[in-house]
Amino acid sequence: MTEALPPIPPGTLPIAARAPGKCIVFGEHAVVHGAPELLFAIDLETQVFVRPATTTQLNGDVDAVPRHPYFSRALASVWADGPPIDVRAVSRIPRAAGLGSSAAFVAALVAALGSATGGIDRPTLARRSFQVERGAQGVGSPGDTTAVVGGGFLAVNGGPGAPLWTVEDGARQWEVRRVTDPGWVWVVAHSGIPRSTADAVRSVGERLARPDGPSLLAQFREVAEAGLRAVERADRSEVAELLSRNQQLLREVGVSHPRIEELLRAAAPAADGAKLTGAGAGGSIVALPAPGKETELVRRLARAGGLPFVVRPAPEGAGLLEPPR
Ligand code: PMV
Repeated sequence: MTEALPPIPPGTLPIAARAPGKCIVFGEHAVVHGAPELLFAIDLETQVFVRPATTTQLNGDVDAVPRHPYFSRALASVWADGPPIDVRAVSRIPRAAGLGSSAAFVAALVAALGSATGGIDRPTLARRSFQVERGAQGVGSPGDTTAVVGGGFLAVNGGPGAPLWTVEDGARQWEVRRVTDPGWVWVVAHSGIPRSTADAVRSVGERLARPDGPSLLAQFREVAEAGLRAVERADRSEVAELLSRNQQLLREVGVSHPRIEELLRAAAPAADGAKLTGAGAGGSIVALPAPGKETELVRRLARAGGLPFVVRPAPEGAGLLEPPR
């Protein structure tokens, strides 16, 4: 049976909403080209507070509309005829780190504004959030926005059973399915190197357009499909092995970074497996700690100059912080 995710109910301003960040386990970049991706919502979140105002503003910035493409596109998408609003956003998700800070901001804001305009069902919230992110970024897949709207573990273009929803963009269509959480604790660590998702996606696109591109994409697909099956059967050693294979492919398409490689080396003695997560070229790593070595792993990553977080899958996707009035 397909799980029915609850809609965002109608409410009136002021409204507070939240959305989790995300961590990609397998398949970043390749998902943009239609291959499978496995990712989960993490228990670091962004909260937005929306109330009526005389001038539209974001965190006190009255010039946010021209300056902040995610904000302006979200307003254009769901608040085109709405009155001025004051939006405050707070987040524990590091920015430009590959952990879904922009997707969480967009999904929380669209959830709040969707509530204020009569409520919004979850597939529509996922599609709108993707359109906003895609419009602001210019490239990319619906993976990040899907994870933060759906919560828990999700597969894009793979996985068992009927899709929760599909997202289309021109000729491409992505299907989203629920994957069972194996119940593990994960560690992510930000390298401190900010980067542009759009630049990384474009450079991988150029790399995959070369003669060996199709064979590389086939390998990404194979690793993600095997990874999905391994996570479904909670096979830790297989997942660990596939994390390393996925990292090798990401190196080959040019999105690792010397700081990422340093963090991976620092993690190795305390991790079953690790790889970069997100667009790479800086950003973050995800590691599966060796059982009992979670604290050692965090210490190693911090000593190597990373910003580590122990994360668990957040079962709930974007939603209101309080019941609607
Ligand atoms: O923006 P990031 O670092 O979370 O990267 C998202 C993952 C990509 O596959 C590289 C891009 C996408 O839109 O799927």
